[in-house]
Amino acid sequence: MNSARDPSSCADRELQSPADQISRDLQDKPDQSCLDGVTGARVDRELSQFFTPAALAEDVADWAISRLHYSDVLEPSAGRGALIKPLAMLGCSMTAVEIDGDNVRALRELRATKLRVVDGDFLAMDPNSLGVFDLCVMNPPYEHNQDVAFIEHALHSSDRVVGIFQSRILHSKGRAEFWRHHDITRMAILSSRPRFGGEHSAKTDFLVLEIFRRAAPRRQGEATPAHVEWWP
Ligand SMILES: C[S@@+](CC[C@H](N)C(=O)[O-])C[C@H]1O[C@@H](n2cnc3c(N)ncnc32)[C@H](O)[C@@H]1O
Repeated sequence: MNSARDPSSCADRELQSPADQISRDLQDKPDQSCLDGVTGARVDRELSQFFTPAALAEDVADWAISRLHYSDVLEPSAGRGALIKPLAMLGCSMTAVEIDGDNVRALRELRATKLRVVDGDFLAMDPNSLGVFDLCVMNPPYEHNQDVAFIEHALHSSDRVVGIFQSRILHSKGRAEFWRHHDITRMAILSSRPRFGGEHSAKTDFLVLEIFRRAAPRRQGEATPAHVEWWP
């Protein structure tokens, strides 16, 4: 039985096992390129200032607006505009909210014609004051469940959220209650941990999710069909 198995190819496979790949990934040096342009600037880890690498931001932008044209898009924790830039290039009208004064200044210097920059704490804003959007795209702060708070707040002014989230957003009893009221319609699993720059890169796993609020809470055992894909 199983006489076709070649021991040498089996050994090769073992050398390239997922565990080996994970340890190789973790040994890689963090890539600082996403901090280009902010060299020497203050980066406030208390505010979760991990900026999305340009290549990932472009993929997220393409994925997010693949079903929309000329969208009005909200970015509620815009940082230095990593997600703003590719969305503006795709023709979207952008509203960027940011709490940090240095980042607000950097956003105002972006040469995007259809960009409104709002200075302040997104979670403290009346969502109606910002307007109505076709889409909200985010890579929000994660600490103290702010990711969930940002999604809930954003869904007051947009039906759809597309964002980069730590994989743990799917887990825990507390978040299960959140997911009872929300659907994931599309999910992209990031096979490699994103390199947000600096020593904090690659410490956990991330997903890109498309999220809607449910009309009624999910009943026990009720399933939602979702499109799932794996990115490199
Ligand atoms: C994880 S970084 C991501 C930045 C940007 N979205 C990106 O993808 O590169 C989160 C950003 O949210 C900002 N931020 C933190 N709390 C905020 C709040 N309550 N309201 C608005 N922005 C906030 C931080 O200053 C930081 O720039």
